[in-house]
Amino acid sequence: MVASGLIQFDDWADIYASRVETMRTSAVRDLFAAASRSDIISLSGGMPDVARLPLDKVSEVAANAVKKEGIAGLQYGDTTGREQTKEIICGLMKDNDIFVNTEDLMVTTGAQQALDLIGKTFIDAGDVIITEGPTYLGALQAFSAYQPDVHTIEFDEEGMRMDLLEAELKKLGKRKVKFIYTIPTFQNPGGVTMSLARRKRLLELAHEYEVLVIEDDPYGRLRFEGESEPCLRAMDTEVIYLGTVSKVFAPGLRTGWIIAPHPILQKIKMVKQGTDLCGSALNQVIVEHYFNDTPWKETLENINVKYRERRDAMLAALEEFFPAEAKWTHPAGGFFVWVTLPEYVDTAQMLSVALDNGVTFVPGDGCYPAGSGKGRNAMRIAFCYEEPEKIREAIRRLSVVIEERMSLYRAFIKAGVL
Ligand SMILES: Cc1ncc(COP(=O)(O)O)c(C=O)c1O
Repeated sequence: MVASGLIQFDDWADIYASRVETMRTSAVRDLFAAASRSDIISLSGGMPDVARLPLDKVSEVAANAVKKEGIAGLQYGDTTGREQTKEIICGLMKDNDIFVNTEDLMVTTGAQQALDLIGKTFIDAGDVIITEGPTYLGALQAFSAYQPDVHTIEFDEEGMRMDLLEAELKKLGKRKVKFIYTIPTFQNPGGVTMSLARRKRLLELAHEYEVLVIEDDPYGRLRFEGESEPCLRAMDTEVIYLGTVSKVFAPGLRTGWIIAPHPILQKIKMVKQGTDLCGSALNQVIVEHYFNDTPWKETLENINVKYRERRDAMLAALEEFFPAEAKWTHPAGGFFVWVTLPEYVDTAQMLSVALDNGVTFVPGDGCYPAGSGKGRNAMRIAFCYEEPEKIREAIRRLSVVIEERMSLYRAFIKAGVL
């Protein structure tokens, strides 16, 4: 078709698939450009501080990856990933008491692709799935393409509330629940971690109601204090586990993985063939060499010290500046704090004013299924990326915007408008 400029694409609504109608663009992605402006302090993206990686080592690793592996990195590869990459991942998983062979896992283009493959493999339009509410907005985005009926379960400081999950499963009765998707450790966006008792209860309920559990674990190694809870997959081999190098090394490598029971993995493999044939072999080679040839655990420990300082700075600034009516979570690791404001504050409406004041955050409603009306008075703020002084300043700026909204509301009430 010749690009004549005469076609009114707006009139072509009927050419799009119905699944596109219900899709929303990601608030984080939309804020990406703004977040990189020098006058903005970004609390929006969950961006790891890759500048703290030993860049000379990384470039050596990248150069060696090509030199040592020759053309292997330039060729198509196995759909499930390079054998050597899978071996490295099996090694990483041992630290989590997950003991698997290379046939038990598949390399994916980041955990994000794993989420999409899961949606494509399991969800028919209208199928029920259960997630924490709020949950990772990228997961909602990936799943929404397959038009599920998403039921959300609240969390508290001990993670997903099992009393509410049980009630929901009971209420759903004979309706098949395709899976429960959870981020049990340093949840995105909540920052909370599921207690051991709740992990056990989740697995009990999953067995009782015959529901698959999907454990998404990008942040488990970013712990600043306290003891780790066991991964759900370490407690139950029927759990599907998603991992990624994004937060422990670099998201630019787009390397993640799925561990799943064999029959399920075979189905996902078929689905992945149609999606991308195979992931980037070159990226996988770089990942192999990074984990084999560099002291990556030491590097991560050092970066975790920085994340911890930033978490502390954020919690201290929230205490100092935020109104008494605000509540927030206290993460022991990961990247995020979840803030809840009085019901009448709409954080999505606040965002443009916040941008004018030089600060970004993720409005809470994006972390719930579209149209649920939930999360409007909440926000996700990330402490991973900015230095402590900037975090303090960002929280101060945000508090000014919040205070303005709140006084406006109080004035409306006083004037009898509301
Ligand atoms: C909970 C969760 N799952 C998956 C992802 C996607 O990770 P990846 O970079 O491996 O695609 C993210 C990224 O922020 C995340 O927070």
